[in-house]
Amino acid sequence: MIGNLNHVAIAVPDLEAAAAQYRDTLGAKVNAPQDEPDHGVTVVFIELPNTKIELLYPLGDDSPIKGFLEKNPSGGIHHICYEVEDILAARDRLIASGARVLGNGEPKIGAHGKPVLFLHPKDFTGTLVELEQV
Ligand code: CO
Repeated sequence: MIGNLNHVAIAVPDLEAAAAQYRDTLGAKVNAPQDEPDHGVTVVFIELPNTKIELLYPLGDDSPIKGFLEKNPSGGIHHICYEVEDILAARDRLIASGARVLGNGEPKIGAHGKPVLFLHPKDFTGTLVELEQV
């Protein structure tokens, strides 16, 4: 059911420093920061030949990654995102198999303008999983 790895998202305590490290030290193609007020994050997209890295930084007081950064002050992998062809079919299959979808279960429009859902990390070996319809 899942297809390509769309991105790995890393929460960072200093967005500028992390972007500079990927650009200058790792030599990656790093895009300009983008505010995503609906998701409570500022994102820097890093384009790799086969996938993307997203650096996440809290935006606003109730950012969903604020608590994560409090627990992981030097930053860390926050979630991984897999592509699916039909997000509603994927959701229904997952719910039928006992997995928990976060929020109200309806897809939201994600950072790339496509429908996304998040799955409970406790159901997926401690990893927050995002599904994105492509
Ligand atoms: Co994501």
